[in-house]
Amino acid sequence: MTERRRESCVTPMRSGSFSRSEEPVELLVERVGAQGDGIAQHRGEPVFLPFAAAGDRVRARLGAKRGGGREGRTLERLVAGPDRVEPPCPHFGVCGGCTLQHLNESAYRSVKLGALHAALARVGIDPGVVAPLRAATPGRRRARIGIEMPHDTTLPVRIGFRERFQHRLVDINECRLLEPALFRVVVELRRAAAAILRGGMRADAILTRTDSGIDLLIEAAERPTLGALGALAGFAEECDLARVVWRISGDDLPVIERRPPRVVLSGVAVPFPPGGFLQASEPAERILVAEVLRGAGLRRPVLDLFAGLGTFTFPLAAAGSVHAVEGDERAAAALARGAAAQPRVSVERRDLMRDTPPPEWLSRYAAAVFDPPRAGAARLADALARAALETVVAISCNPATFVRDAARLIAGGYRLERVIPIDQFVWTAHLELVAVFRH
Ligand SMILES: C[S@@+](CC[C@H](N)C(=O)[O-])C[C@H]1O[C@@H](n2cnc3c(N)ncnc32)[C@H](O)[C@@H]1O
Repeated sequence: MTERRRESCVTPMRSGSFSRSEEPVELLVERVGAQGDGIAQHRGEPVFLPFAAAGDRVRARLGAKRGGGREGRTLERLVAGPDRVEPPCPHFGVCGGCTLQHLNESAYRSVKLGALHAALARVGIDPGVVAPLRAATPGRRRARIGIEMPHDTTLPVRIGFRERFQHRLVDINECRLLEPALFRVVVELRRAAAAILRGGMRADAILTRTDSGIDLLIEAAERPTLGALGALAGFAEECDLARVVWRISGDDLPVIERRPPRVVLSGVAVPFPPGGFLQASEPAERILVAEVLRGAGLRRPVLDLFAGLGTFTFPLAAAGSVHAVEGDERAAAALARGAAAQPRVSVERRDLMRDTPPPEWLSRYAAAVFDPPRAGAARLADALARAALETVVAISCNPATFVRDAARLIAGGYRLERVIPIDQFVWTAHLELVAVFRH
C-alpha cells in the first residue's frame, strides 16, 4: 500500500479558522517547534501544523494568523517523516490533550529539550547546565474536561479536551493521559450528563484525585437545577467521589461532601480546596520534591515562595524551619490548617507580584524555593537577585519565563549550577524543571 493511500485524510476537516476559499498547499515540515507543532515554510512565513513530524510532506489548508505565521491543518499526509511512530491513542491527531504521541523517543526528547536549550541560549546561558530529561510515567491526577450538552438532549453529549487551536470539544472514549480512576469518572460523567446539564449547556469538570478520593468541581455559567443537584449527589455515590462543588461566577455551591478531600504531603494532611493546585502527576511530584530537597540541602531557615498547599513546604520542614508564602486565599488557608501542628512551618498569605518582599527581608533566609505560575515572577527575581541568599531553587513549567527570571538572578551574582528537566506533562510540549542557583 502506498504511503499516500494509507494515510489519506489524516485530519477530518472542520470549520473554524480554516477557510475553504483558499486552495490547499503542499508543504514540507522542517522541524517540530517549541509548542509541539510541525513548522513548514510557505511564501516566507512559518505554517504551524499540529501533529506533524519533521520530514512529513503534507497537503494542508492554511488558517488564521498565529505567532508571526499561519495555523495549518493537514488534509493529507503524502510522505511520513522518519521520526514518526504509531501514536498509542486513537484520538491522537484530533484531540488537543496530547501533541507529541507520534514521535520516536529521540525526536520526542529533542522537542522537549529543544525549547529549553533555545530559551537558555537566547539569554546567554550555556545549555551544558541541563541534566538529562527525567521521565515520569504518564498518569495525571488532575484534569479539566469540557462537557457540551446538545440542544436536543436525545443526541449524545460531547465530553473531552478541546481541539488544538480551536474551541471545539473532541469527544473521547479513551485517554492514556489521565490516571485510570480519573478517566473512569469521565466515562461515567458522559452517562450521567443528561441529568446534570440542560440542553445547550456547557460546563467544565475539574477532576482531582486527592488522597481521600476524587474531587469534582463543575464550572458553569448557569446555576444547577434541583434535579441536577440530586443527580450529582447520586453520581457522587455511584463513583465514590469525595466531594462535588458547583462553581458559578467564582461562587462555590457545595453539592455533596462524602469525605473531606485532603492531600498528604510528607505525612501532613492538608485540606484540598475546590479546584486547588497540585502538581499534575504524582510520579513527577516525587522527582520535583527530591530535586528541591537536594538543591536546598540543609540550609535553613528556608523560604517557600508560591507554596500552594505545601508540596515543598512539608518535605523541607523535616530539616528545619520553613516560611511558606502563598497568594491564593483558599490555598493559604488550607496550608495554614495543615501547618497548625507543625512548629517548624509558618505561613503567610501575600501577593508576591504586587507586594514583593524587599531584598533585606529575603536576606534573613539561607535559601529560597521559588515556584511561580507560568508567567514567572520578574519582580521577585529582581528582589532575590539583590538579596544574595546562599541558594535559590526555582521550579518552572515555562522555559521562556524561567530564562527571563534566571537571567535576572545571574545578573545579581548567582551561578546557575544545574537545571533538571522533568517530563511531567507526558505527550505534550510542556516541560517542568528544577534549577539550582548558588551565590
Ligand atoms: C505553580 S503553583 C506552585 C504551588 C506549589 N509550589 C506546588 O508545587 O504545589 C503556583 C502557586 O502560586 C500561587 N500564586 C499565583 N499568583 C500568586 C501571587 N501573585 N502571589 C502569591 N502566590 C501566587 C498560586 O496560587 C499557586 O499556588
